[in-house]
Amino acid sequence: MIQVDLLHSANLRPFNTFGVAARARWLAHARSIDGLLAALELAQREDVRVEVFGGGSNLLIVDDLEAVVVLPQLRGVTWLGNHNGRVHVSAAAGENWHDFVALTIAHEAFGLENLALIPGHVGAAPIQNIGAYGVELDRFVVAVDAYDRQREQFCRIDRASCEFSYRDSLFKHDPNRYLITAVEFALHTEADLHLNYAGVREQLSASGINVPTPKAVFDAICAIRRRKLPDPAEIGNAGSFFKNPLVDTHLASVLQAAYPTLPIYSAAQGKSKLAAGWLIEYCGWKGARVLDAGVHQQHALVLVNYGKATGRELLAIAQHIQADVSNQFGVQLEIEPRIVGV
Ligand code: EPU
Repeated sequence: MIQVDLLHSANLRPFNTFGVAARARWLAHARSIDGLLAALELAQREDVRVEVFGGGSNLLIVDDLEAVVVLPQLRGVTWLGNHNGRVHVSAAAGENWHDFVALTIAHEAFGLENLALIPGHVGAAPIQNIGAYGVELDRFVVAVDAYDRQREQFCRIDRASCEFSYRDSLFKHDPNRYLITAVEFALHTEADLHLNYAGVREQLSASGINVPTPKAVFDAICAIRRRKLPDPAEIGNAGSFFKNPLVDTHLASVLQAAYPTLPIYSAAQGKSKLAAGWLIEYCGWKGARVLDAGVHQQHALVLVNYGKATGRELLAIAQHIQADVSNQFGVQLEIEPRIVGV
């Protein structure tokens, strides 16, 4: 079997969920570890950098890329048995995240249900430590298998070494060093439901469910996301474009006094987390549009491409939003997806 398909001067539009048009010097569909290594060798020969895209759901391309863009398409899910009361399972980097979540629930391995319908591949999930509806990925990760491009060897990085925090990890700090090949998870054998995030219980009751199962929570999360967040298959986007800012509690209480309806959540290390969507909506950006780049009508945290927006046009809106929020509230919004091509 051919392990890698190489395309010269490839259009990246189908490979990023923003649907931004840009070209890559080379595009490498790598179907195996050997295919990945062949793509890395090509980059070395051509003396260009490597960009790993995964599902392309958490990046914004702002220019053509003089790079080998690698799409890791490693597939396979391996059940590793029960250890210390948890079901262990390893999923290859190219598995679709949502399909994997559905598979775990069908196997009665629980915990990932609140993370249903997040776009992207398994291999990208630890990079930004995906999280939704009160659950973050890191609590289930045992280890991440990767190829370390610096040491030129395969490695296994255990959970503690992944440096996970809110939408952050070791892999984000050093984006081009590790090529993730698989992730091992430890899941619950019994339901361990997290229903406290606003809207989850309401969705379950609206469906007439009084005693929820993990599958019912999975369905409820899918329903909430479908209602609130735009589907990248219909309108280009990369989910939340900014992180919810972490500020010290003093600033949070000053803001709370000035803006009583601003949602504020307590966070680790004496910090408070502010709802970025609220800050952006307050500044009047919700539903705004400049040419084909805009802010989603239902959720101010999500930038959208109505068709032909360029990465630079989307980035310009993001920078304008950052400036307005900073002027209004004295809070700096941090961009969440990776900006590629700068
Ligand atoms: N809000 C507004 N206006 C808006 C959007 C939100 O006032 O336009 C307010 C809401 O009313 C609510 C608060 O902001 O009180 C929080 O909104 P929401 O529950 O939609 O969650 P979020 O904090 O905006 C985060 C994640 C999402 C995740 C949801 C649910 C980040 C950066 N985003 O959004 O993750 O789905 O919580 O858990 O942490 C993603 O990372 O791509 C993503 C979609």
